[in-house]
Amino acid sequence: MCGIIGYIGFRKAPSVLIKCLKRLDYRGYDSAGIGVIDEKLQVFKDVGEIANLEKKVPIDKGTLGIGHTRWATHGKVTKENAHPHVCNNKKIALVHNGIIENFKTLREDLERKGYKFTSQTDTEVIVHLIDESYNGNLEDAVFSALKKIQGSYALAVVHEDEPGKLVGARRESPLVIGIGDNENFLASDIPAILSYTNRAVYLEDGELCSLTAQSISVFDDTKKKIEREETIIDWDIKDAEKSGFPHFMLKEIYEQPNAIYQTLQGRVFEREQSILFPERVEKLLTADFDSIHIVSCGTSFYAGWVGKYLIERLTGIPVIMELASEFRYFGVKKGSSLVIAVTQSGETADTLAAIRAGKNAGCQTLVVSNVIGSTATRIADGFVLTQSGPEVGVAATKTFTSQILVLFLIALKLAVLRNRIGLNEVYKYILELKALPKQLRQVLDRSEEIVEIANRIKGATSVFYIGRGVNYPLSLEGALKLKEISYIHAEGFAAGELKHGPFALLTEDTPVVAIATKDATYAKVLANIGEVQARGPPVIAVADDKDTEIEKHADFVIRFPSNGGLLSCIPIAVILQLLAYHVANLRGCSIDKPRNLAKSVTVE
Ligand code: M6R
Repeated sequence: MCGIIGYIGFRKAPSVLIKCLKRLDYRGYDSAGIGVIDEKLQVFKDVGEIANLEKKVPIDKGTLGIGHTRWATHGKVTKENAHPHVCNNKKIALVHNGIIENFKTLREDLERKGYKFTSQTDTEVIVHLIDESYNGNLEDAVFSALKKIQGSYALAVVHEDEPGKLVGARRESPLVIGIGDNENFLASDIPAILSYTNRAVYLEDGELCSLTAQSISVFDDTKKKIEREETIIDWDIKDAEKSGFPHFMLKEIYEQPNAIYQTLQGRVFEREQSILFPERVEKLLTADFDSIHIVSCGTSFYAGWVGKYLIERLTGIPVIMELASEFRYFGVKKGSSLVIAVTQSGETADTLAAIRAGKNAGCQTLVVSNVIGSTATRIADGFVLTQSGPEVGVAATKTFTSQILVLFLIALKLAVLRNRIGLNEVYKYILELKALPKQLRQVLDRSEEIVEIANRIKGATSVFYIGRGVNYPLSLEGALKLKEISYIHAEGFAAGELKHGPFALLTEDTPVVAIATKDATYAKVLANIGEVQARGPPVIAVADDKDTEIEKHADFVIRFPSNGGLLSCIPIAVILQLLAYHVANLRGCSIDKPRNLAKSVTVE
């Protein structure tokens, strides 16, 4: 939800800002702008992609500047509403990510005092408040402006009269400082600055920072200077580039054999038949809780839901699934539950609020995230990283399968801790885990077959996905992938539920993707496929390699290599991702940046 960037150093700021913004555009892409100080403050903005803005920036001078890529919340997509916003004397420029809840009152008050507004955004009040308090010191003015603001913000500010200073602040929206040699950065997210530095300092809620080219200072909300340690990010810049793939999403789908391998690294020990987590996590898992709440949103919610089946199956511990946006208001139960929050970005506003709600209710909290240093990893009692490398495509792919894998490892660990399984069984599962990268490569090799099926469904107006047990949340995820990138209406259902209502929507033009695994529900799923076929729509079955029956029941079959075990959900997920990708590609959709969406949803 909006990406912000700030630069101070020795390079040409416009080029640096544009380059960094291009790496942040998955956070929002309806308009963009930069503000640069080259003696005078100069601001350039435009609607649409960052490439539009790039063409309209006539200068490449100045070594201090800020930039923004927008996902509109308040005010339409117009050049006026694009950031940076400037104060009336045009000396201060500001970019902001978040929502100012009391902006209407503040705006009325400022207008009464004579301030002229040029946009409909909530953000513009901040720059006028800073101007109102400005007395020769930008940090002080930002401090006093922020005291009047309610809501969330990550912001970067510059002042024409202080050309050696870049000021940032955050509350409930992400902001990281990137440390270079004789240059420093502010960014919403690490991939933005990865080609310049992998040294980061994270700001906590309520903190403010002031950067020069050679120094960084961090202050708490009482203006007390604090020391903050650096984190070294071990992501490679190549991970954040397309590397010859037409889309990040396809690249990230193809990265899964390696992402899975990385997720297992340092955790799964075949010889010792053991699963190892950091001490803090082991302590959380050893505690005496009698249930688990999994809280998350979107794809991470479906990964959590798959995790629920895995944990319940291996440990017998009841797992309650809670959408973070609901849990934060209605779901908190006092008592001995472990709250597991699943979040790729670690910055999703609803998930952060759910973690805080869990903590306030006295629960221990554990986060599964892909981003080290993200807010979620810092506010929870412990965290496990998915270790899948940066994910840029708005549609989550490799992090979905890695999240499932981490939840499976948690399930295994808990099963051992609670004496539910013996070492032999652990060993059997470890072998299954180690076989996964090869199985995924086999699925990826079948991409052309999936393109053929995608060709048959690309013209549909609606597609249903059905499955039972662990394949039910997979159906929901398959449908979410298709709708978010191809704009075809898609729904996932528990296979037994079609006859309780959804059948009314089924026509000959509604392809049904049925996940049929050789488990206890197989015969029932075949029966459900029969019920569908009796009504005319084509059925695409996703079935395992050893299934000799399925061809008799389905119109098309996509096969996955079978391990016959709990982990077939992972190759199946990859098939569903490829299907969605190829349908969207055949329809010519904007795959990495679907309309109205943003990768990281940092507003409620
Ligand atoms: O960063 P998070 O995992 O917390 O994000 C949650 C959802 O916003 C995210 O999974 C979203 O549903 C994806 N666009 C799905 O592909």
